[in-house]
Amino acid sequence: MDLCLQLFLFLYLLPGIIAQNSEDVTLIVRGSATIAETDDNFVCATLDWWPPEKCNYNQCPWGQASILNLDLNHPILAKAIQAFGPLRIRVGGSLQDQVDYGVGDLGHPCLPFTKMQGGLFGFSKGCLSMARWDELNSLFLKTGAIVTFGLNALKGRNHVRKGVWGGSWNHSNAHDFIEYTVSKGYRVDSWEFGNELSGHGIGASVDAEQYGKDVIALKSILSELYKNSSSKPLLLAPGGFFEQEWYAQLLQVSGAEVVNGMTHHIYNLGGGDDPHIASKILDPKYLSRIADTFRNLQLTIQRHGPWSFAWVGEAGGAYNSGSRQVSNKFLNSFWYMDQLGMSSKYDTKAYCRQALIGGNYGLLDTKTFVPNPDYYSALLWHRLMGKGVLSVDISGSPYLRAYAHCRKRKAGVSVLLINLSKSTWFSVTVRNDINVNIAEGGGIHKDGNFIHGLKRSVSWVGRKILDGSAKREEYHLTGKDSNPLSQTVLLNGTPLELNRDGDIPSLHPILVAGDSPVSVAPLSIAFVVFPNFEAHVCGS
Ligand SMILES: *[C@@H]1O[C@H](CO)[C@@H](O)[C@H](O)[C@H]1NC(C)=O
Ligand SMILES: *[C@@H]1O[C@H](CO)[C@@H](O)[C@H](O)[C@H]1NC(C)=O
Ligand SMILES: *[C@@H]1O[C@H](CO)[C@@H](O)[C@H](O)[C@H]1NC(C)=O
Repeated sequence: MDLCLQLFLFLYLLPGIIAQNSEDVTLIVRGSATIAETDDNFVCATLDWWPPEKCNYNQCPWGQASILNLDLNHPILAKAIQAFGPLRIRVGGSLQDQVDYGVGDLGHPCLPFTKMQGGLFGFSKGCLSMARWDELNSLFLKTGAIVTFGLNALKGRNHVRKGVWGGSWNHSNAHDFIEYTVSKGYRVDSWEFGNELSGHGIGASVDAEQYGKDVIALKSILSELYKNSSSKPLLLAPGGFFEQEWYAQLLQVSGAEVVNGMTHHIYNLGGGDDPHIASKILDPKYLSRIADTFRNLQLTIQRHGPWSFAWVGEAGGAYNSGSRQVSNKFLNSFWYMDQLGMSSKYDTKAYCRQALIGGNYGLLDTKTFVPNPDYYSALLWHRLMGKGVLSVDISGSPYLRAYAHCRKRKAGVSVLLINLSKSTWFSVTVRNDINVNIAEGGGIHKDGNFIHGLKRSVSWVGRKILDGSAKREEYHLTGKDSNPLSQTVLLNGTPLELNRDGDIPSLHPILVAGDSPVSVAPLSIAFVVFPNFEAHVCGS
């Protein structure tokens, strides 16, 4: 019998041979080359403009979480941002293309949004006063946040027909606003142009040709206003849903070195009232579908704008403010962590989660500011997963998903394991491809050694089997009471809760001898750090 077929049959029958609901998996991490690189500060969260009157499905989940009314002095807010040291924050959202900046000659008073029939998204124009901008910057400075600000890209255009806007962008108010920002010494890492105006648009759309001309204008404003500054901000665009032709045209029309980051939005779980969100999140086929978007954007950039990079500017999973049943629960981390893993493989530099606070999908609860489970998953990712993305080969069930990165700022490798199975324990043997190449002459086809290794469940992370003194760090996340719909997440069995002073708790791993397989419980997420994993590309 063909060796491959033998191997296939062995793996196929394995779960039945060993025990029901327990499965051995071999994960081979290729530590010899990175396949992609993220920014050092990949995790990002958004602040949005939605006022309290923003409602969906008979609920109004924004409360006081708007950029214009959020309690910036709430002690948990600063602590939650500071814990990342630093967190990327993107300021933007649907109403950003109706925001005036209360600076210079505005010609009218600077007022907040009000509900308005026939207004874009049902609201009037709004305005950011410079007093509020000062307060926001004092929070950003205090917490070390790295700020992206989304500019109004509809200013000065005419509504030409249903959903379509034409004419050129009037940059005079944006110019004055950026000038004010520079004069105050406020650090803005990146200026983003427009929100969901690309392709078919959401509330409004602008054609790519016009948009390309306008980003050239914005670039020259930035060059002029930052002429004397030592650090130059990035220009991001278009902050919309990826449509290949439109994105390609924007790159072609704007030309080399104008748009630094091509931003796009991800809402692949359906509307916030979709009854199938939970089952979509636990369906590996469903989760993988969106990989095409990341792949196609990467190809578009390689072909039409190799000077630029991909960046997820806003991603909430479920749209219209998220799902009250799922978006703030542990279950949502299966979607979120899988997204971070998948997008990094396609060379995405940053991934902005909608929202830091607000709606049902806040990393912090909109009313209490208490962190939701996704906050802690994001924090673990930020602390453990470095820039270098490694490829992995995995045998066995599609319900176990795995991603590997160089360890953050230290030697070694960090692996993210996501167990989507409701009833199967996985026993994961992590191996270094160096071993596979040396011991088995390349590939896993020489099944003798492979099966031998699998049976012995030995974790090989270097040229030799590690002795028991080499400890790895494991961080296992599960829902409270094994309930994936719990709003409390456990780290290695202990609930993650703010301590008495409202501080973010420390996130401690358990230390495990390096030569045993990693056990991943049903419906759990594990970060595993191998400090001694030989991966030269990771500086170890
Ligand atoms: C842009 O807006 C400013 C301020 O509202 C106005 O004074 C100016 O005439 C406008 N520019 C163009 C080209 O329409
Ligand atoms: C840059 O510095 C020069 C000389 O100090 C000054 O005249 C000019 O106004 C500055 N430009 C900006 C945009 O601040
Ligand atoms: C995933 O969970 C299932 C069932 O809940 C379990 O049988 C399986 O061993 C787990 N996988 C890993 C890798 O632990």
